[in-house]
Amino acid sequence: MIVSISIDDELLSRFDSAIKMRGYSTRSEAMRDLIRTFISDCSWDTEDGENIAVITLLYGKDVKKHELIRIQHRYREISTMLHTHIDPLNCLEVYVIKAPSERIKELLKEFRGLQGVKVVKFVKSACEV
Ligand code: NI
Repeated sequence: MIVSISIDDELLSRFDSAIKMRGYSTRSEAMRDLIRTFISDCSWDTEDGENIAVITLLYGKDVKKHELIRIQHRYREISTMLHTHIDPLNCLEVYVIKAPSERIKELLKEFRGLQGVKVVKFVKSACEV
């Protein structure tokens, strides 16, 4: 199906530069990706469903290890966990969790509040598009 939209010159020109930087070959290809991301973001926060998130955690050696393990065991919805030693002083962990969004927000709050945690990043991922 072909859909036409109204857009001013300046916005279109910025859009064209942006899609070039990202490596899209056509506007349509970029628009389809944008629409999928938009739909995914809109549906992520629904109260009824399960949502998937990827959380990265950077912490130093001073982290309260017992607290961290306690949190990990309390959130059984964490399906995957990866630990890597960045340098002698820092560790990076990646978590994949599938749970209602409220539960994921609770987990993020716990990670952010943990002593020794330096960076918490979080990416919403689509369950379906
Ligand atoms: Ni480590």
